[in-house]
This record gives sequence, C-alpha cells and structure tokens, in this order.
Amino acid sequence: MSYSKPLDGKAGLLMSVDYPMEPFRIKMIEPIQSTTREQRVKLIANAYYNVFNLKAEEILVDLLTDSGTGAMSQEQWSALMLGDESYAGARSYYRLLESVKELTGFELVLPAHQGRGAEKVFFAVMAQPGQYVLGNGHFDTTTGHIDARGSIPVNFIPKTTLDPTFEAPFKGNMDIDAADAFIKEKGKDACALILLTITNNTLGGQPVSMDNIRQTRELADKYGLPFYFDAARMTENAFFIHDRDSEYSSKSIREILLEQMSYADGFIMSAKKDGLSNIGGLITTRDEEIFQPLKEYLILNEGYITYGGLAGRDLDVIAQGLREATDVDYLRYRTGQVAYLGSKMEESGIPMLKPFGGHAVYVDAKTMLPHIDVEEFPAHTFAVELYIEGGVRAVEIGTLLAGRDPKTGKNRIAPLELVRLAIPRRMYTQTHLDHVANSAAKLVDRASSMKGMQITYESEHLRHFTVRLRYK
Ligand SMILES: Cc1ncc(COP(=O)(O)O)c(C=O)c1O
Repeated sequence: MSYSKPLDGKAGLLMSVDYPMEPFRIKMIEPIQSTTREQRVKLIANAYYNVFNLKAEEILVDLLTDSGTGAMSQEQWSALMLGDESYAGARSYYRLLESVKELTGFELVLPAHQGRGAEKVFFAVMAQPGQYVLGNGHFDTTTGHIDARGSIPVNFIPKTTLDPTFEAPFKGNMDIDAADAFIKEKGKDACALILLTITNNTLGGQPVSMDNIRQTRELADKYGLPFYFDAARMTENAFFIHDRDSEYSSKSIREILLEQMSYADGFIMSAKKDGLSNIGGLITTRDEEIFQPLKEYLILNEGYITYGGLAGRDLDVIAQGLREATDVDYLRYRTGQVAYLGSKMEESGIPMLKPFGGHAVYVDAKTMLPHIDVEEFPAHTFAVELYIEGGVRAVEIGTLLAGRDPKTGKNRIAPLELVRLAIPRRMYTQTHLDHVANSAAKLVDRASSMKGMQITYESEHLRHFTVRLRYK
C-alpha cells in the first residue's frame, strides 16, 4: 500500500489547515445564549464540576459528543413526513432496507433504538458467557454489553498507537499478529467473534485501513470465527481510505464503502453518527441462521423487527442520512473541520493527539498539565477550565472515565489522559470553532497554576456520568 499524502506531524512541524467551506447553506437556526465568566464559575460549581450536569442553555459551544447531535438536511426533514407508523411491515422499514442494501450490500437488516440496543441483542446471540470478543478498541457501551453478557472484551492495539504524537495514516488498525497469537493460545472455541470498530472511537476516531480489514477477514477465516464491524462511523472510515491510500484515491466513497463492508459477516451500528440521525441503530448479517435468533431477541428487547424501537419516521431519516453521509464533499468538509480545530489548538501550544481523527480532536492533558497526578484527573481539570473560559463543553476520556477496578477498588489508570472535543455534524461554523480554539489558547498561559480534582461522590458503574468533584 502507498499513501498519496504522507502525514506531516513529525516533531516540531506544524501544518495550518484551511477551514473547509460548508457544502450547504443554513435554512433554520437555533439560538444559543452567552454567559459571563462569573456566571460560568458558579454554574460549574453548582454542577459539582461535572459537565454532564450542565444544562444545554448554559453552554455556548457543545462539543460533548457527535452522537445524535447533528443537523438534518431538508431531504431528511421531508423524509420524516413520509414516515409510516405501521407496527409491522411499514414502508419506512423497506426504504431503510433498500438504503442499507444499496450502500453496504447487506440484505438481512434489523433496526434498533440506538447503538447500545443493537449491542445488547447482538451479543446475546453472538457471544457465550466466558468467550472472548476480540477487537481493535471496543467502545465503552460495547465493553459494558460484552461484560453484561458474561463474555470477555479483549483488544489488540499496536504499541505505537498509544503514543499520542505518533503519526500514522491508519492508527485505528488492529494488531493482527497479536490477535492471531491470542486465538492460537486460547483456542478457537474460547473466542466468540472479531469486532472491528470503524473508525476507532476509543483511540481517537482513527481510521482502519482496507489492508487491515482484509487481514482481519483472513484471520477470521483461518480460525472459522465470525467477523463483524462496529460501523458507527463507516463512511468517515471510507473517506480516510479514499484520502490516505493512493490505491483508493480514484474510487468513489460508495465503491470503497461497499468493498470495506464486503469483508465482514455483518455489522452493528449506532445510526446517530454516520446515519446522520438524532436516534437509531442497526444490526445486519449475512447469516440466515443467526438472523432468526437476532429477530427474536430484537422483538423481546427493542420492538418488532420492522421498527426495532424507532418510529417509522426515524427509519426514513436514517435511510436518507446514510446516503448523504457517503457524499465526498460532505466528508471532506466534516474531516476538514476536525483538522482545522485541531491544528488551530496545536498552533497555540496545546499538545494534541495526532493525527486528527474523523469526529473529534483530543487534548493530551498529561503532557499539558504534568504537575497534576493522573488520579487528580488532569483532563477533567482542562475540561472544567475550558468551560469556565469560553462556555465550551468537552469531556474527559481518561482515568475518571475508566472508573475503578471492581476487585481492588483502585482507580483504573487510563493509558492516556485525554480531553475530547467532538464536533456535531453540520452544526457549527468556523467562528464557533475559532471561539473554541481561542478559549483553549487562553488556558496555555495559566496551565501551570491549574489544580487537580477530587471526587466527593461516585457511583459503582459508569461513574463519569454522575460523579461529583471539587478542586483539590
Ligand atoms: C463506536 C461506537 N459504538 C457504539 C456506540 C453506542 O451507540 P449509542 O450511543 O447510539 O448507543 C458509540 C456511541 O458513541 C460508538 O461511538
């Protein structure tokens, strides 16, 4: 494989990125309110220093997540009106089926209310208690559902990937040799399946190469294991292949997407990302035998097989959104917006995870705030300070999120202390992102005087959502 554009993040060499023009005009607006710094100091204290406790109206630019937060197109709003709310056999389901078939090649398709709904049904059928689910970086709800099933999540991450400054075009890849050695050691029957997440959210929205996908197929075939995708950001992944692998630069996104999906036995998906929808999920497979129990679990947990916990109108929105998400101009703008924000922040001296991924930029808080111990959550301090500075909401992805080891009660120390700034799709403009970058830049000068945080309340599971903290 050769790369048309060598990535340019070698030490000390910074590249400015131009802001990509939006491939759309704005037809409807949602007002946002500004707050003063003094108000924000009080608001975040009242929220127990947990950004999840802030109200939307207290935030100027909300980069908490790219999940279900995007803006719909005029075609999606029109599709919504065509929604067929029949309990069974709705036209909306068949339109969704057509769209998924056309774009991914899969014909056995079930809707779910969102990604984790799909995960619950999928793992109930695909993984037995005690079996391993192999991956390149399972997302936290995926890990949660594998755990809840009594199965064991295990990831094969190349060592270089954990270096935030290491530049590689496909840093989301799975370490195939390590996975191979693991299956050999444990035995095929101890492993349920391989689940490759595209793009790799846990590791910074980094793409997976077509070579790595092909090799994963070969590995699955070698041992007779099923191979599925967590395809939440499948079109962003296809765009990175188009952009970074010269073998694919003359192929269309749809051609690349079809090839990418052709290697797998099916996929689960949160449609709240590349489905360009505010809600929804999908499960697909090629295997008729698996489809039957999937349908049964879906009916039990989500709803009948032609709606899966969604309204008919949501199915139409996803059918249309999936098609729009394959538009190369949209994808160039989307990934360009992320790179623009990342490069602006890097220019002002903020250490960033490189290269910039598909849906978010990540601040390397351990490098930025080396005086704050990881058990005092430096990335969370940064997120709180960014809110106070500019009303920008970002989120800690580090030791606070990692929680405690249930056996020892000690903090699980995360490999990286990151602050994630995720960009909702088609929502913010250049001035919003400039405001974010300028607010972050103001933190650089006072970084050395920032303090760590201390937990005053925490829950047993997924503590970051409800945790209460104070400054140390
Ligand atoms: C890769 C990945 N898988 C699964 C999920 C879960 O999807 P949902 O939030 O729709 O339940 C997410 C959500 O962020 C995700 O990024």
